[in-house]
Order: sequence, then structure tokens, then C-alpha cells
Amino acid sequence: MADTVREVESERLARILPDALRAIHEVIEKHEVTEEEWMAVLGFLTEVGKQDEFVLLSDVTKTSVLVDDISHRGESGVTPSDVEGPLYREDPPWREKPVKIYEEYEGAQNGDVLFVRGRVASTDGAPLGGAVLDIWQTGPDGGYDIWDERQPDYNFRGRFGVDEDGGYEFQTMVPKPYTIPTDGPVGRLLDATEQHPWRPAHIHFKVEANGHQPLVTQVFFPDDPYLENDTIGAVKSALVRPLIRQDDEDELARRGLDAPFYTCEFDITLKPAMSAARA
Ligand code: BEZ
Ligand code: FE
Repeated sequence: MADTVREVESERLARILPDALRAIHEVIEKHEVTEEEWMAVLGFLTEVGKQDEFVLLSDVTKTSVLVDDISHRGESGVTPSDVEGPLYREDPPWREKPVKIYEEYEGAQNGDVLFVRGRVASTDGAPLGGAVLDIWQTGPDGGYDIWDERQPDYNFRGRFGVDEDGGYEFQTMVPKPYTIPTDGPVGRLLDATEQHPWRPAHIHFKVEANGHQPLVTQVFFPDDPYLENDTIGAVKSALVRPLIRQDDEDELARRGLDAPFYTCEFDITLKPAMSAARA
């Protein structure tokens, strides 16, 4: 099996690499790139590697979005996929019901509570009771937990199972637009090419269920100033979901809240895996 995989990989490499090199050579020829310029390119790429910014480079050049689109081309009736980005962390905490993916901290006072809810189902509408959601996002200010010293480790991250009928709900806070890391070589590239570093507010989802293709996606919100010009170009209209303000006193009391909050509905449809489709 491993040998077959390696054969397929080397076949693909033999077909793709000559084209890739031809494209690079054409650009060098067209622009008469000098030795000094080429060495600067190699130096830049070396630094990107040293600082572990290749995923970021792929994202800001919108290459990640292109590859994701190609990988999911022709899929219909399922929730659109979207890029993972470099800020996912393995093994986030398992969150029990009622699911809340953050701990209170100083910055939480600067934002609004949000409940995201929906249902995970297969393409034929059957609920996927065994599905597991893995969520990560920024807080209402200060960005991701790994950048914001005020936040406990793994804040605004978590995994949890859905109900038997595929339903889920989790408590979080409304995220805000933020800038991707700009202190490394990719930041210098953005500067040099006058590309801003902003992403619209979003929540990342990974969804898994037996017999179904895993899904990685993001949810966005209307009226965000960066919806039309996300620096990684990842916004898809089907993933933009309204935030509904809730100020009913009884509902606030039921949820133990003392300020209006928001809700957002996001139903998820997964594609049966090939083997499951044949069974
Ligand atoms: C993010 O959304 O987490 C992200 C995506 C691409 C580059 C940087 C950050
Ligand atoms: Fe993000």
C-alpha cells in the first residue's frame, strides 16, 4: 500500500514539477531577474522556513484557498469547506454540556456573548448523532490565546460531541476582525506589496462523523469591513451567517446573563465518505 502511494506520488511529481519549473523560468526570463534578486528570493524563502511561516505564505498568496477549492470542486449539497490556516492547535480541551469554549478573563468585558447552534446531518438529511465539533477563534479583542497574555491557554478553543439528533450549541463571544502575524518575513512581504493583513471576524470549525468526509470550514458575519477583502481571500457567501441580537429578559435570566447577547445558526451537512456511499 505504502509503495503504491509512493508510486502515485512520484508519478504526480514527474508530471507537475517540469510545469512548475517552466512557469518559474518563464517569469525569471520575462522580468530578467538578476542574480542579486534571485538570491534575495532564496533568502526570503529560507527565512519563511526558519520561522515556520510557509502555511501563512500559502494563505496570504491565496494559494491555500485555490487548493482547497480544487480539492472540493463539484461538491454540492454539503457545507462548503474552507482553509484551516496556521492557528489550529492539536488536542484542544474536551468541553462538556452546556458547552462554553472560553473562561472569563479581563478582555471578555469588551465583547458580547454569542451562542452558536445548529444541526449536523448527512446529505440525505439523516442526523449525525456521533459527530464531533472542534472550534477555534479569536476573543473579542487581543486575538488568539497564543498571542494574548490575558487569556488562559486554549481559550476560545474546544471539542465536543453533538446531541443524538445532531443538534449542538456552544457559548462563545462575538469575534472581531484581526490582523494575521506581521512580525516575520510574510509580514514584510505584505508591506512590500501593499497588502493589508486583516481578516474578517470568523469562527473555525472542524467536523468529524463516522462514514463521512471530515470538514474544515469557517463562519463569517455580515457587515464586516473585511468581508470583501479578507487578506487570505477565504470568505464564501454561503458561510456568512447573521448574528441575531437577543434582549428578552426571561431568556437572559434563563441563561444567567445580565446583558443582551447574540445567537447564530449554522447547520452543517457532511458528505458520505466513498466507502460509506458504496456500502
Ligand atoms: C486564521 O484565520 O486563523 C488565519 C488564516 C490564515 C493566516 C493566518 C491566520
Ligand atoms: Fe482564524
